Amino acid sequence: MDISKVIIPAAGLGTRFLPYTKAIPKEMLPLLNKPAIQYIIQEALASQVEQFLMITSKGKNAIADYFDTDPSLELFLQERNKSGLIQDLNKIIRSANFSYIRQPEPLGLGHAICMARHAIAPKEYFGVMLPDDIIIGQVPALLQLMRIARQERASVIAVQEVPEEYISMYGVVSIKKQFTPNLFQVASLVEKPQKKDAPSNLAIIGRYVLSQKLFKALDEVGFNQDHGEIQLTDGITQMSKNNEKVFAYKVQGSRFDVGTPIGWIKALISLASQDPYYAPHIKEFLTDLNTTNSFVYDRTKNLTHTV
Ligand code: G1P
Repeated sequence: MDISKVIIPAAGLGTRFLPYTKAIPKEMLPLLNKPAIQYIIQEALASQVEQFLMITSKGKNAIADYFDTDPSLELFLQERNKSGLIQDLNKIIRSANFSYIRQPEPLGLGHAICMARHAIAPKEYFGVMLPDDIIIGQVPALLQLMRIARQERASVIAVQEVPEEYISMYGVVSIKKQFTPNLFQVASLVEKPQKKDAPSNLAIIGRYVLSQKLFKALDEVGFNQDHGEIQLTDGITQMSKNNEKVFAYKVQGSRFDVGTPIGWIKALISLASQDPYYAPHIKEFLTDLNTTNSFVYDRTKNLTHTV
């Protein structure tokens, strides 16, 4: 099964991160020295997927500028022997293929994904990656799903178990059948149920491998009466009703919701703690922060870097 494209819905306003997101797309929040969206692209490239269909909206041009060459910056850095600073990014720019599609109105995740339907062939399977969800692990989360999709020749969505007090923040899976500790067949999905109505503790996290049949299913469900939006979860449930097999797979990895300040802070600290350059600095800082309140005002201790 050939899976060569991912759709990245990046049209959201980022209201959970206002006022920062008033002028800067949330996808461009820095995680160490890279924007969050670069982690998504790297995960896909590490899964051998190189074609990106980015769904954007007004105010998101920084994303397209970032994934584009900049000859004057390259010359500037070359003259100073500093080309290494953008080497990794340039590799991405040269190996990946980006298309940008504008969603003119915020009409839901299902609607955003439909904006790219012309690029998906009949019978084709494609990835969907929600850029708020950064997943860090040994095997790229998208690749984990692609392996299941190929094995089952069917659509598959990523899930993780979440404590019941958080379940109403997610789409939740109603299980038809369990095959292994990590693999389930989906009966239906419920978007952001109340705790008492949640059919399981398996929450959808932002990775999917879907069949092209999704688009017909989304046409069939149309706009959700409660929200006036086209919901991806409704479309996937409809696929199940249409006798398309849909699986849920518990992906391995640490997942952060970088669409909120607290999720972003946790992602930042976690990434810094695992990075060979930042780890010693951040670990020392966190230890000191626990032991002395005055640390931040201690000038000598703050001078940990060399110029
Ligand atoms: C979206 C999906 C939801 C999923 C979540 C994961 O919701 O609609 O099913 O559980 O992403 O992050 P959002 O967080 O965009 O409201």
